[in-house]
Amino acid sequence: MKNTPEPHAGYAARDRAWHPPALHPPYKTSVMRAPSAPLLSLPTSLGEETGPVFGHAMLGDMDHDLVHNFAEPGESAIGPRIIVHGRVTDEMGRPVPNALLEVWQANAGGRYRHKKESYLAPLDPNFGGCGRVLTDEQGFYEFRTIQPGAYPWPNGGNDWRPAHIHFSLFGTAFAQRLITQMYFEGDPLIPHCPIVGAIPQKDAVESLIAELDMTRTVPMDARAWRFDIVLRGKRQTLFENRLEGL
Ligand SMILES: [Fe+2]
Repeated sequence: MKNTPEPHAGYAARDRAWHPPALHPPYKTSVMRAPSAPLLSLPTSLGEETGPVFGHAMLGDMDHDLVHNFAEPGESAIGPRIIVHGRVTDEMGRPVPNALLEVWQANAGGRYRHKKESYLAPLDPNFGGCGRVLTDEQGFYEFRTIQPGAYPWPNGGNDWRPAHIHFSLFGTAFAQRLITQMYFEGDPLIPHCPIVGAIPQKDAVESLIAELDMTRTVPMDARAWRFDIVLRGKRQTLFENRLEGL
């Protein structure tokens, strides 16, 4: 629970050094992606400010079970079965309920189900690699999956991504979508990853590493990892020309 602050009041200043710089040459594609001109602030549209709003009725029964949600009946994905769970809170430690979490990942061999995937590790016919879940009233979430494998990528000639799960979080509107990656405690590839290396602060890297949670393992079934997520809160004053949180 290292990432979950105790609920408290007060002001939390934005730390702009927390995020990696847009340009980090060891991560090659950042050279092309990094803006070369000052950023422009674009006005949001009504659609971005009001939706989409997700409810439990919009999620399928198997959306939070990647072990089975792409598998043939009676079959399951190959690989170490795991539970990933945690809590989404704002920077004051207050739970964020009804946040949609979408996850995607490689299979146990490190292979994505994607037409541009070029890694020679085989596809698992019973694993799609996508899932989603809503946080409950107290901000907790949980999904089942298989532990993804590390994979190579054409960056510096011999770079390998540590095992990771991609996360997207929706707040109360499309403009509040946040994206990050979760890593696994003890993975020796983490310090070698050029993408992780773009993150300047050690604490920020550690906030992305899930901890093995033996209290939530299921005997003879699955290990468990805890990954808590902390967002900025909706503390922005409601200005006449800007809706809260945007
Ligand atoms: Fe990935």
